[in-house]
Amino acid sequence: MKRAVLAYSGGLDTSVAIHWLRDQGYEVHAVAVDVGQKEDFARIVERGFVAGAADVRVVDVVDRFAGDYLTRAIKANGLYEGKYPMVSGLARPCIVEEVVRVAREVGADAVAHGCTGKGNDQVRFEVSFGVLAPDLRVLAPIRDDDIPREKALALAEEWGIPVAGVVSHYSIDENLWGRTAECGPLEDPWVAPPEDAFDRTAAPADRPSVPAEVVVAFERGVPVSLDGARTPLPALIRALDALGGSYGFGRVDMIENRRVGIKSRELYEVPAALALITAHRALEDTTLERDLAHFKPGIEQRWADLVYDGQWFSPLRLALDAFVDATQVDVTGEVRLRFEPGACTVAGRRSERSLYDLSLATYGGDDAFDQADAQGFIRLWGLPLKVWSEKQGRLG
Ligand code: ARG
Repeated sequence: MKRAVLAYSGGLDTSVAIHWLRDQGYEVHAVAVDVGQKEDFARIVERGFVAGAADVRVVDVVDRFAGDYLTRAIKANGLYEGKYPMVSGLARPCIVEEVVRVAREVGADAVAHGCTGKGNDQVRFEVSFGVLAPDLRVLAPIRDDDIPREKALALAEEWGIPVAGVVSHYSIDENLWGRTAECGPLEDPWVAPPEDAFDRTAAPADRPSVPAEVVVAFERGVPVSLDGARTPLPALIRALDALGGSYGFGRVDMIENRRVGIKSRELYEVPAALALITAHRALEDTTLERDLAHFKPGIEQRWADLVYDGQWFSPLRLALDAFVDATQVDVTGEVRLRFEPGACTVAGRRSERSLYDLSLATYGGDDAFDQADAQGFIRLWGLPLKVWSEKQGRLG
């Protein structure tokens, strides 16, 4: 019998995919990868078996997701189009690693996913499968057998797959790094996001009015403690997410350019991701040398495009990460974050490796900066423009 290993989320589409694959003659091994989503995994496993899977397993990769993926995203200040911390783009290659591992274990002929043909996730799955398991067939029943939402609902009903409570009018993806929502009422970009689209961030009326501060410490660009208490990254992210979320911080409402050419309206809830990138940037401001600080954002943008576009397993991503790692040797220190309703700001930063030199920066008496140096410097700095403007004047 042919075997297929399915990246199984437990939702409508992947549950229907299980039955569909079985109808095609596959023994289906469903793999639910725990990347930190709030999920009732016992229910998911049950649903997978009801749908017809030969095996359903849950693999907890939260630590690996944080260690191998999110630390890199933080060091690279990873934001697609300057706004989106790539919640889904970071998780897909991590999920693919697990699916391929199981595929090897059970001797599978094929791997499968439940994505539609309009999104980025199909690209990320298939490009990653192509790198890690080029010998395996990739099956995408929802896309390739053309099963739109209404048909999936009808099939679930017909096949007796219990999906009550998992179907919403939004399309949701979630993990440790944040939550995404699209579709439904969000498809009209003029319509303000309804409060029911949010889950991790408090509504304006429910936010505390008294600000809260927290100190995040970094070592070589990686957050390691909160208010002085050393905390493993997943727990640190969860704590910051809860704090930021309670202030309603971390909502992103954007029109984004998908890899497949579509502009789409997306809603993200990413309190910890944005707070950590804000803090990390503040520490870089004080510890990175000027030219390095000016050069790195270009690399960051390319890195984000690669990750968003499904190119995690690429030599360019590896090379860019080697560069990013080299920039982080001095990014050690502390940042004081202040949360207020809807906002997170940097209230302070300090580092033994800070390049901020008070004796140079001060306007007070203990000034080590020789102001006489400024005159000659400015004369030479402005010389090309002076020559140019004189010439302009002469030529009229
Ligand atoms: N637009 C985002 C991205 O491409 C979110 C995708 C969410 N995925 C989903 N299956 N709902 O990364």
